[in-house]
Amino acid sequence: MGECVPDRIMVPEGWETVPSHLKKRGFGVVYVIGAADRGKTTFSRWLVGQLSPGAMTGFLDCDIGQSTIGPPATVGLALYHGDAGVPVATRLRFVGAVTPSGHMVQELVGALRLKEKAREEKVSFLVIDSPGWVVEPSAQEFHVRMIDLLAPDIVVAIQRGEELEGILVNFRRHPSIRIMEFPSSPLATERKRDWRRMYRYQRFSSYFSDAVPRTLSLHGMGVHGRMPDSFRDEAWHNLLIALCDPEMMVIALGLVERLDLAKGEIVFRAPPHDPSLVASVHVGSIQVDLSVPPGRAVPDTRHPIAPYTSAPRGGDPAPRAPVPPASGEGGDQGRSVPDQSG
Ligand SMILES: Nc1ncnc2c1ncn2[C@@H]1O[C@H](COP(=O)(O)OP(=O)(O)OP(=O)(O)O)[C@@H](O)[C@H]1O
Ligand SMILES: [Mg+2]
Repeated sequence: MGECVPDRIMVPEGWETVPSHLKKRGFGVVYVIGAADRGKTTFSRWLVGQLSPGAMTGFLDCDIGQSTIGPPATVGLALYHGDAGVPVATRLRFVGAVTPSGHMVQELVGALRLKEKAREEKVSFLVIDSPGWVVEPSAQEFHVRMIDLLAPDIVVAIQRGEELEGILVNFRRHPSIRIMEFPSSPLATERKRDWRRMYRYQRFSSYFSDAVPRTLSLHGMGVHGRMPDSFRDEAWHNLLIALCDPEMMVIALGLVERLDLAKGEIVFRAPPHDPSLVASVHVGSIQVDLSVPPGRAVPDTRHPIAPYTSAPRGGDPAPRAPVPPASGEGGDQGRSVPDQSG
């Protein structure tokens, strides 16, 4: 059935064809697609581990719900070279939500800009992990456009039966995209909605663990994104924002404490950063209340030994048990957070 590597990942025989094909070419972009819990991230990390000892390899994490590079609501790029499994560099773009539904533009643009960054950094290989939101027509359109835009050389589809055919069929006659399909491992385990919420809560908690209060003048500052409909405190309190550099790369995420309209200032909590670099504020769509942990403790069965961990900033591996009980993100302001992806 396949080799069981030391970190308890079952590697089916067919997987090896992907790195061997890429190594022969010397370069390539791989888009990994699959429904929730099919094993996309497991495969992606394994592939990065196969490629990075010999060449600079990028891991582009486009899963904004179950993020592995950076906190949720961001698309993250980590660059690896050598055996250490520690990224030599990381970059983040802000999407502002934990599902691409309603935020496809932000996700598409963020993913493309990070792919360009990877190219600037002269990566030989780029492995793109994607959201598990694949069922509805809008989800299928999302992946069709991600593949169209990111132009991978290989699409790796990890699936049960032919559940991805509605997406894959669009590229079966593409002149430069090769589709490689693998069945989801029997060891791939399903994580429930509560687990996913706890995972996000812990990723955010970890990211904001050293956050301090900051005040930013909005004079001359770009402010864009999903503005709340009102200026009332409850609409802004705990709203997730990103402080971005002139290229719209994330400098730091923040959680709004209040908007001071009289002074033209925004008050928020954020990890230490250099405020002189901030050129714009991207307002996200979710309020994240870290004082109210979600539900119940969930054991960490996700990537038990993760050789390819994420960024120093917000880049810790999976959540650890035991953890306090419930709901991390407050409102999603009426926007859908499909269980299968978020
Ligand atoms: N080949 C495999 N061998 C061993 N365990 C696996 C394998 N594939 C998946 N798993 C396990 O199944 C669970 C889900 O895998 P993974 O996180 O890779 O899925 P995913 O498709 O990325 O999920 P999500 O949609 O939540 O991002 C994890 O606990 C992982 O360790
Ligand atoms: Mg995943």
